[in-house]
Amino acid sequence: GDAFEVVVDGRTVTVPSGLSIVKALAEAGITVEVSCENGVCGTCLCTVLDGIPDHRDTYLTDEEKQANDQMLLCCSRAKTPQLVIEL
Ligand code: FES
Repeated sequence: GDAFEVVVDGRTVTVPSGLSIVKALAEAGITVEVSCENGVCGTCLCTVLDGIPDHRDTYLTDEEKQANDQMLLCCSRAKTPQLVIEL
């Protein structure tokens, strides 16, 4: 998908097309703990404070995905230009 911004701890990080949120944050010096990196295990789960995730994982239930208040950072992206998250 297209590039979007992630705001975490008052910092704004651009996530380019083709780079995961986890990798974009890592390049900005923000470490997210991961395990499977494939949307299966739930290790990279975070809280979503604002914006709508584009859920690409198989960990959250459909109901949890529809609530849009948490997401998996290794694989999911954004439907809105910006996501505000809490690690
Ligand atoms: Fe396993 Fe993201 S690292 S779901």
